[in-house]
Amino acid sequence: MADSKLHLISDEARKEIDQWVAKYPPDQKQSAVMAALQIVQDANQGWLTTELMDAVADYLSMEPISVYEVATFYSMYELKPVGRHKVSVCTNISCMLCGSDDVVAHLQKRLGIGLGRTTDDGRITLKEVECLGACGGAPMMQVGKSYYENLTPEKIDSILDNLE
Ligand code: FES
Repeated sequence: MADSKLHLISDEARKEIDQWVAKYPPDQKQSAVMAALQIVQDANQGWLTTELMDAVADYLSMEPISVYEVATFYSMYELKPVGRHKVSVCTNISCMLCGSDDVVAHLQKRLGIGLGRTTDDGRITLKEVECLGACGGAPMMQVGKSYYENLTPEKIDSILDNLE
């Protein structure tokens, strides 16, 4: 393909993607698209460029539009640069009933930014997300790959203080 973006995917990332591809029948390798997007996103400081999505489409023999649809539908994919840490706070029903408004207010005050924003020093991006499947520990948030549940202002402060 003349304008292939495949070179944007490192050998290491390809190996990881291949492990996912191997879980599916050969004619259904596009089933690995979510994992592939996460892998290339992680390798690109946490966000996806159009070129990277095109590269994933090439690699999995998909139409680019199908990859864009996945990347824009799910909240774990970022289409613009993010901070070194991503704080995703759930405001869905269980978390809302257990005080996610206070969690959001505390985070916004403490970080000095609104939802969808990144601190000026590029340290933290604050994001509102839908249910992360940890309703039993509501209110909760995800920082990087870790879940933090039963949040209180003190707990939030300690989590933020421990981020580099
Ligand atoms: S509603 Fe927040 S984790 Fe489910």
